Amino acid sequence: MVQGAFVERDSDPHVALRSSLLDSGRRLPSPRETVPPVPPGEVVADTVRQLDSDGLFLGALDTTPVDDDFIALGKTLGELIPETDPAVQDHVSQEVLLNLVSVHPETDDASLQPFATGALTLHSEGSGRPVAGQPRYIVLMCCDPGKPAVTADGRELVPAQTVLVPMAEVHEALTPAERDILRVTRYRTDQSVPTVLREVDGRPVFSFRDFGTAALHWVSDARGATESDVNDAFRALLAAMYAHEPARAVHWAHGTVAAIDNTYFFHGRTSGAAHQPGSRRHLKRLRIRTARHTGER
Ligand SMILES: [Fe+2]
Repeated sequence: MVQGAFVERDSDPHVALRSSLLDSGRRLPSPRETVPPVPPGEVVADTVRQLDSDGLFLGALDTTPVDDDFIALGKTLGELIPETDPAVQDHVSQEVLLNLVSVHPETDDASLQPFATGALTLHSEGSGRPVAGQPRYIVLMCCDPGKPAVTADGRELVPAQTVLVPMAEVHEALTPAERDILRVTRYRTDQSVPTVLREVDGRPVFSFRDFGTAALHWVSDARGATESDVNDAFRALLAAMYAHEPARAVHWAHGTVAAIDNTYFFHGRTSGAAHQPGSRRHLKRLRIRTARHTGER
């Protein structure tokens, strides 16, 4: 067993790639055509079918449902996970619905980043929790995309986009040796967290967050590997996550709904959620676990 800490260096390839992906103001291609708006009641069957086939549903509602109806929609997919983090309680409704609003300036504090105007680094949801505590699905609904920020010379910036990077393609970009290390390496924590790379239903699944400038403490069972071998594997993983071209992104409009399978995609957010007077970005989020996922080992 070997243990250590990964701390990024400015010269690491992913640092420049990350800033190009998340902070350049580029408009990324949409993962797919958004289907024409439908009443909320009709969205469920499509959601389940698409999530099962490729891990993503992207649709539009002709009206945004009240919280009760959105929660009922979420319950058709599985068990809703309560929002227990004290840091987010001001934004929680009915214990399970998180209101993601851009109310903080750009910050390095990970617990505030979802509520900030800056970028959110790529991650799988709940990577620091045991598998049973990680959501299988994240459902997001847009109430207000926020007004785009305008530069001094009158140019409209692209509003914040939710970036999606397929785990299978990140896995594909790694060498067999890097995969072997990540399959037996996990965060060093009191919780019994899964390895950074594992298999679910025959697919490669990552449990991993880009910690940015913070240290990632890890422990590894990689035979014969040194601390620097493991850190190099993390460096390769981060480069593969941010080098993914073309990365896709959800462009939010009032009524857009995205359901993301947390075992198919890393997600993150570009910067650009600056709120203008009279308008702020507002998404509602549910996290859902499924019996199948909970039973996984
Ligand atoms: Fe997230």
